[in-house]
Amino acid sequence: MRRPPAPLRVLSGIQPTGRFHWGNYFGAIRQYIDLQTAGEAYYFIADLHALTTIREPTRLRSLVLDAALDLLALGLDPERATLFVQSDVPEVTELTWLLMTVCPMGLLERCHAYKDKKTRGLPADAGLFTYPVLMAADILAYDATVVPVGEDQVQHIEVCRDLAGTFNHLYGDVFTLPKPRLVEGGAKVPGTDGQKMSKSYENTIDVFEDPGPQKKKIMRITTDSRPMEEPKDPEGDPLYQLFSLVAPQADRDAMAATYRRGGFGYGEVKKALVEASAAFFAAARERRAELAADPRRVAEILAAGAERARLQAGRVLGRARAACGLERGAAAPRRRP
Ligand code: TRP
Repeated sequence: MRRPPAPLRVLSGIQPTGRFHWGNYFGAIRQYIDLQTAGEAYYFIADLHALTTIREPTRLRSLVLDAALDLLALGLDPERATLFVQSDVPEVTELTWLLMTVCPMGLLERCHAYKDKKTRGLPADAGLFTYPVLMAADILAYDATVVPVGEDQVQHIEVCRDLAGTFNHLYGDVFTLPKPRLVEGGAKVPGTDGQKMSKSYENTIDVFEDPGPQKKKIMRITTDSRPMEEPKDPEGDPLYQLFSLVAPQADRDAMAATYRRGGFGYGEVKKALVEASAAFFAAARERRAELAADPRRVAEILAAGAERARLQAGRVLGRARAACGLERGAAAPRRRP
């Protein structure tokens, strides 16, 4: 039996790896949040996936809370989008098993996270190996149609489509096949050393960093050493690129003109960047402080999100169980009237 075509439903998972930096925000998170108006949207904090790397319970707990605060402060609207924590929906882990039974080993052996570890001779656990199957269950449990992700996750969406296709082929039309939506703004966010901004290069500017330390970092951004009088092309300059992310259009145009005219110092640009950054994130910073002072409210938002998510995941899991012969109670002895 065919199901009616699925409505646009956006879903993405966010690993709680620490405070968001500008690369995370401008490269991905901002696009995810913008998509909450495109259709139905589900966003979750992927704490089960995080368990493959974080093994300190206190740290994991605080990282999950930080991620929730950051997302809400940056504009994720719990009235529009369903925000929840991955592990609050146990249906997903059950679905993971069903998908595991149709997943060829070879498919997972080709996945990069596992493959990279193996080529480097490092030990890998089954959690890392089966990471893409849990991710497939994350997506399929909500009948998601569009999954915004960075380049590094596209392979996992392919695995998800593959598993959904196999399951549907074996058991009927159970799962909705999702499509990846590549968000790749991250490449355009330079770090304080001019390389791509990344935690592993220790060159990040964090979104909610305290103004003092943030200013210090910005004032230390590496610049070229051409003489001040020389006119410069703003486009290739990392400092200008960072300024462009947070400054209003008029200020950007004025700054570009200053570059082309020459005769300015990078110190002035850095000061302008400090101010533009403070103004750009001021409202979000205030919202974050308010939410951080009200942990009950955050807990309520996440609980309401989990409830909605479980309702949806329960329906899909029910479909999947029935399709493969796991009707609940089917094997139980019948009660006599
Ligand atoms: N693996 C993703 C990452 O590291 C996070 C994630 C988990 C995810 N489940 C997902 C992303 C489902 C999209 C859809 O970024």
